[in-house]
Amino acid sequence: MTDVSKLSIGILGGTGDQGKGLARRFALAGHPVLIGSRNAQRAQEAAESIGAGATGAENADVARRADIVIVAVPYEGHKALLESLRDELAGKIVVDCVNPLGFDKKGAYALPVEEGSAAQQAAAVLPDSRVVAAFHHVSAVLLLDPEVEKVDLDVLVLGDDREATDTVQALAEAIPGVRGVYGGRLRNAHQIEALTANIISINRRYKAHAGIRITDI
Ligand SMILES: NC(=O)c1ccc[n+]([C@@H]2O[C@H](COP(=O)([O-])OP(=O)(O)OC[C@H]3O[C@@H](n4cnc5c(N)ncnc54)[C@H](OP(=O)(O)O)[C@@H]3O)[C@@H](O)[C@H]2O)c1
Repeated sequence: MTDVSKLSIGILGGTGDQGKGLARRFALAGHPVLIGSRNAQRAQEAAESIGAGATGAENADVARRADIVIVAVPYEGHKALLESLRDELAGKIVVDCVNPLGFDKKGAYALPVEEGSAAQQAAAVLPDSRVVAAFHHVSAVLLLDPEVEKVDLDVLVLGDDREATDTVQALAEAIPGVRGVYGGRLRNAHQIEALTANIISINRRYKAHAGIRITDI
């Protein structure tokens, strides 16, 4: 297993529930965590609410300073944000957890993405970064809940760079209860992002925070 314990984790859009939830778990696991935002003060407030040594700064600052950068912004802002950070993110592992989803009266559904998926869009916009797709199905509610000691799911990790996917699998396992599982190349990220719409339907029907487990491995 790759040793990732010393790596600093930056989170773009870390002021939202998903970013804060991941930040909280990585900070508790001992990682230096940098919360990113379009507004430095919002980032600092979010970092204070997490504690455990997390700090906050503008997204560009975080992208420049962190070893691994997680993208946790809504799909609407995804492409433009990454385009603006191409230089800062060059050479880094960039972890995309963005689910391009629409919502209507029937619930959640997957949006078409010209590049195939949000993760492939990130890879197209960031040719000098190592883009990995992961953390699509983990519930922010569970990540943020202090009563939840273990988060019971497999995190599917997709990418075209073996060292980068190994690193992100190991990072996922810093969250108690989580197993990181390689889920294929980036060209198969669409199904993983789209599956979140099914999980949202499951959550609504069963009043749950469902996760998935892969058997026989
Ligand atoms: N919530 C979940 O349980 C969950 C689970 C798995 C994956 N995800 C994915 O994670 C991402 C974040 O989810 P979330 O629920 O945390 O979303 P969110 O609260 O709506 O947004 C997260 C942060 O993104 C920033 N942001 C908003 N619009 C932006 C734009 N146009 N450009 C740049 N930054 C923008 C905001 O931070 P500032 O205003 O401070 O810049 C906001 O606090 C989504 O793509 C979602 O699909 C969410």
